[in-house]
Amino acid sequence: MARRKYVVGNWKMNGLRAGLGEAEAIFAAARDHAPVDVALCPPFTLIGAMAALGGTVGGQDCHAQDAGAFTGSVAAPMLADVGASLVIVGHSERRDGFGETNDDVKAKAEAALAAGLAVILCVGESRAVRESGGAIDHVLKQVRESLPDDFERAALAIAYEPIWAIGTGLVPTIEDVAAMHGSIRAALSERIGAGAAEVRLLYGGSVTGDNAADLLGAGDVDGALVGGASLSAAKFVPIIEAAA
Ligand code: G3P
Repeated sequence: MARRKYVVGNWKMNGLRAGLGEAEAIFAAARDHAPVDVALCPPFTLIGAMAALGGTVGGQDCHAQDAGAFTGSVAAPMLADVGASLVIVGHSERRDGFGETNDDVKAKAEAALAAGLAVILCVGESRAVRESGGAIDHVLKQVRESLPDDFERAALAIAYEPIWAIGTGLVPTIEDVAAMHGSIRAALSERIGAGAAEVRLLYGGSVTGDNAADLLGAGDVDGALVGGASLSAAKFVPIIEAAA
């Protein structure tokens, strides 16, 4: 089956209510490019206000438990309650900065799906792993160990984000992106059979309006997870256009 292109902005720890005009302009462009699924993942504080603008909005993380004594954390049902319909889990900034393991990421993904949220599960290798030649093995291990035991195929996307490409202006070659995405698709097939064809695979790491068409044209690339260039409509809309 044909997979719809999916372009997602991860605002990371950026954004105040005064900046919601950018989201409004991005959602307007998304409505003009209906064949592309577009979503923004702002900080928790902006989810409600951004959802009220009428676009698709998600969280950048969630706790694996639904409630409890976890100061500072936000549960998946809480994200859904304020209007989120998806959540990113396993971003390298969570894996590296907060010590999240594949088991943690799997538990978060399962909690999110149980709360009715779609999931974007992130994987990716460091520069040292890439240079050692072990990138594909490393990423496939993350995929195998972080994937929920059971999931609705259309509710889960995997984002391949090489850590060395995030915020650096560096991107892998198109051949390397296609090889990684093809390997992820093959690993999914081993796990879930033909349903693997329904799971969208996104590329993330220094995606811009200039390189989006090439990256989105690579084999098995169904969309992009965008950081810096998603903060302004002027930079993000060209990426949506490249996906259309
Ligand atoms: O989650 C998106 C991200 O990590 C990529 O960031 O700024 O390189 O597009 P950036």
